[in-house]
Amino acid sequence: MNVLLIGSGGREHALAYAISASPRLTKLFASPGNPGIAQFADCVSVDVLNHDAVIVFCKLQNITFVVVGPEAPLVDGLIDSLNKAGIACFGPSKAAARLEGSKNFTKTLCARNDIPTAAYGHFTNVQDALAYVDLKGAPLVIKADGLAAGKGVTIAMELATANAAVKDCFDGAFGDAGTEIIIEELLVGEEASFFVLADGISALPLTTAQDHKQVGEGDTGPNTGGMGAYSPAPVMTDELINTTMESIIYPTLKGMTALGAPFKGVLYAGLMLTKNGPQLIEYNVRFGDPECQVMMKRLKGDMLELMISCHKGDLETKSVNWSTDTAVSVVMAANGYPAKYNKGTVIRGVSAIDREADTCIFHAGTKMKNGQLQANGGRVLNVTALGETVTEAQKAAYALIETIDWPEGFYRKDIAWRAIERENR
Ligand code: AMP
Ligand code: GLY
Repeated sequence: MNVLLIGSGGREHALAYAISASPRLTKLFASPGNPGIAQFADCVSVDVLNHDAVIVFCKLQNITFVVVGPEAPLVDGLIDSLNKAGIACFGPSKAAARLEGSKNFTKTLCARNDIPTAAYGHFTNVQDALAYVDLKGAPLVIKADGLAAGKGVTIAMELATANAAVKDCFDGAFGDAGTEIIIEELLVGEEASFFVLADGISALPLTTAQDHKQVGEGDTGPNTGGMGAYSPAPVMTDELINTTMESIIYPTLKGMTALGAPFKGVLYAGLMLTKNGPQLIEYNVRFGDPECQVMMKRLKGDMLELMISCHKGDLETKSVNWSTDTAVSVVMAANGYPAKYNKGTVIRGVSAIDREADTCIFHAGTKMKNGQLQANGGRVLNVTALGETVTEAQKAAYALIETIDWPEGFYRKDIAWRAIERENR
């Protein structure tokens, strides 16, 4: 079959790498894609905001399956439009994508289905929100309700920070995403990410990962989209996975079906492993970035077939295997990120992906100009390696970074430190 992949980041490069290995694939298209994805797909430019344009393109190119990488087109209902046009696809409907598109939706679902998550209040005006902050006292977590490109969350250790965050949201710092807010208790523990596929009826647990959200070594400084990740997450024991399935994932999928919005696609649970067990921090309705990169490097199996099963509803008959090795991915970002940074700087030494190798470089924000590879975003490359141990995988990733010539980029030197510390205990 011909497949269209929507997106342009490192996550989509990893998905293109996985999908293009499928015997079911005839031809892969990507929109807009990137120079790395171009190794596996024809990169085209179709306006994803224009659902009719996507449908026309699919019909023209005989595309019978569409994979949507990022959250925005999912929350925007692209899957519903494609389904209506008779085109099969991977991802949740607009109604099911509310699990990521509205924090209040998810918190309400959790409350109704006894899913463990932080205690919270939901507010639509600044006075009530400030009164709640006053009542509860710091620490508190302030969140814009809608999609805010990973920037809508403030961990407020002091009252003044909480008050300022509330005012910022209602003053429009996150546009429409912040016209409603959630104020939560602060959860304490180690964070882990857990992924399942779902077909509206059954669920297939995938694997675990951990990422590093903060820009600086030792997990310090401002939050980013993620400066690196590794999979599996050694902290997620089989017992914790079972508890998470029973107390969080199954009740969520049941709850969504009961609402008439069965979930199909990949459900990414951000967890806090507290002393009272795993609690849900948030859901995403797509793969994590850069978690997807480490997962696809470990995948042993046919990702396209699994995605088709999510659409068809026969996931129950499927299984999935992962390399027992650990994969580590280190993000190279443009100097200045996550604040102001330059685009267009030249990168040398990035080679195409060799499937046989234990290492590879996924492109996250690059473009080709005048025959040169250039930086085209904040997060630019995902340098990824497999190793028998976390220590070995990390070593291989940093050795590969040494071969990349990009003076205008930087990276964290301690990706996977927590897992390595655990390994050395
Ligand atoms: P979110 O966008 O909801 O995942 O929040 C971004 C990050 O903020 C999470 O990955 C956590 O590190 C942190 N966070 C969010 N909510 C909480 C909470 N209730 N307690 C502690 N940390 C939180
Ligand atoms: N790495 C975090 C995310 O994809 O949301």
